[in-house]
Amino acid sequence: MTGKPLTDRVRRIFMRIAGSILTVVALAALPHVAVAQTTGSPLKIGIVGAGREGGALGTLFVKVGHPVMFSSRHPEELKSLVAGLGPLAQAGTVGEAIAFGDVVVIVIPYGAMEQIGKAHADALAKKVLVIDVSNPNARRDGEDLAKWVGEQGGAGLATAKFLPGVPIVRAFNAINYARLPALAHRAGEPVGVPIAGDDPQGIAVAEGLIREVGFEPVLVGGLAMGKHLVPGTPLAGEHTPAEIRQIAGSLH
Ligand SMILES: NC(=O)c1ccc[n+]([C@@H]2O[C@H](COP(=O)([O-])OP(=O)(O)OC[C@H]3O[C@@H](n4cnc5c(N)ncnc54)[C@H](OP(=O)(O)O)[C@@H]3O)[C@@H](O)[C@H]2O)c1
Repeated sequence: MTGKPLTDRVRRIFMRIAGSILTVVALAALPHVAVAQTTGSPLKIGIVGAGREGGALGTLFVKVGHPVMFSSRHPEELKSLVAGLGPLAQAGTVGEAIAFGDVVVIVIPYGAMEQIGKAHADALAKKVLVIDVSNPNARRDGEDLAKWVGEQGGAGLATAKFLPGVPIVRAFNAINYARLPALAHRAGEPVGVPIAGDDPQGIAVAEGLIREVGFEPVLVGGLAMGKHLVPGTPLAGEHTPAEIRQIAGSLH
């Protein structure tokens, strides 16, 4: 794994999320206090691709108290989404959401990733974490792109080619958007979210955020393992953390 040195900015973000997680743990220990509450210092989150999955994920982040900028090439079309979520939610252009976020979540058809990289890779490389929820899909994105992604070693390494120097963590890639609200903070054992990344700081921040929104992150390996974090693979769908560890143990 290749980590960047801890800059002051990254350190500050760590302190914020660590404080936030500690407060969640403290709150969880108290009776009558819901865990899914705003805790310490929120992180600003920019969502690139506020469609079905991006809209649902951004909603989860707002619900635990993070300011979220949802983005679109037509931000005016996001008015009703953000109005329904209250003052923590706002809409902007893709560039505005990337500038806004301490953390950026990319949830777009994979065919748009190259263009996002060309326009925004430099800005994204300055973030503490960029979560890649996007998947290549031959039917939607074309056979050529799907073939190229395979040649790079799968979705994780391919995203890193499009977004050089960016602290990418793949997560939430194969949990259906319609299930996210019901699965978040479910009673009993949490649903596991397999994640893959090469940047230790980004992974730590991703793990904190995933726990905050009511799931349990399971690091299955570096970005090379991102090829298994797509729909239609054994890790796809809803699994407990133990199941994910068991399945991931048989993959390489
Ligand atoms: N749907 C799921 O349950 C699910 C689950 C896990 C992962 N995923 C993955 O998440 C990604 C999005 O899926 P979805 O179902 O949410 O799709 P969707 O509902 O069609 O939303 C896609 C979003 O991407 C944006 N977009 C498209 N081209 C763009 C570009 N060139 N620049 C910036 N934004 C662009 C669109 O925004 P505007 O058109 O408004 O600009 C739209 O909001 C896919 O890669 C998918 O495989 C989906």
